[in-house]
Amino acid sequence: MTREQLLERLVAEAAARYRPAGLFAFFFARGKLRGDPVFAALLARGLIDDRATLLDLGCGQGLLYAWLETALACHGRGEWHEGWPAPPGLKGYRGIDQSAREVARASVALGARATVERGDIRTADYRSADVIVMLDVLHYLDPPNQDRILERVRAALSPAGTLLLRVGDAGAGFGFGVGQLIDRLARFCRGHGAGRLYCRTLEEWSSALERAGFASFPTPMSAGTPFANVLIVAMPR
Ligand SMILES: C[S@@+](CC[C@H](N)C(=O)[O-])C[C@H]1O[C@@H](n2cnc3c(N)ncnc32)[C@H](O)[C@@H]1O
Repeated sequence: MTREQLLERLVAEAAARYRPAGLFAFFFARGKLRGDPVFAALLARGLIDDRATLLDLGCGQGLLYAWLETALACHGRGEWHEGWPAPPGLKGYRGIDQSAREVARASVALGARATVERGDIRTADYRSADVIVMLDVLHYLDPPNQDRILERVRAALSPAGTLLLRVGDAGAGFGFGVGQLIDRLARFCRGHGAGRLYCRTLEEWSSALERAGFASFPTPMSAGTPFANVLIVAMPR
């Protein structure tokens, strides 16, 4: 299959899992999975190891798990892109989100195969994991909480583990401003009010990660969008 054919298949099948969770859940899943380059990049770059235990902090409606499980099913049927590595078969997936609505949608769509809990990532017990993912979450929390969470993530990760952190680069100018605007609009539409966002430049994120005990490797992650997002792959030092 070409990359484009596979992506269409993955988006359609992963989004279909959300039909029982309602129209919003379905259309949101379809739009986000189609428009956000991070999901394809995680597979194309083989960033999640096979048999990993994955902790998804601020998991929303659990799109990451739906995506990975769909990828595994497609690969099992021989529907795959030859330039990509085989997708990971997770040993376990645990998502945590503070929103009861997001957790309810995730629970309906993902069923008993995944564990999705309602909780605050500032205080939740992370236990241990091989891969910890935070996609577009930390900017909702103030810098002291961001730093504490990075330290706790470092302590929860296995020695050869990986943190996958997606953030906006506050030093990136116009694209960053567009991302902020969309983020505020999405928050407002979901009934969370205007809310304050706490953003950092890429250099500030790298320093925060270093202080928490990580070596970090950033890659631009907003191709095809007007945003200035970066995926940081961080490894315990
Ligand atoms: C922009 S969404 C990203 C969702 C998901 N990571 C994804 O990429 O689809 C941010 C999520 O972070 C959650 N969140 C924000 N602050 C949180 C906190 N303190 N504890 C748990 N979840 C939080 C929100 O409820 C929301 O679902």
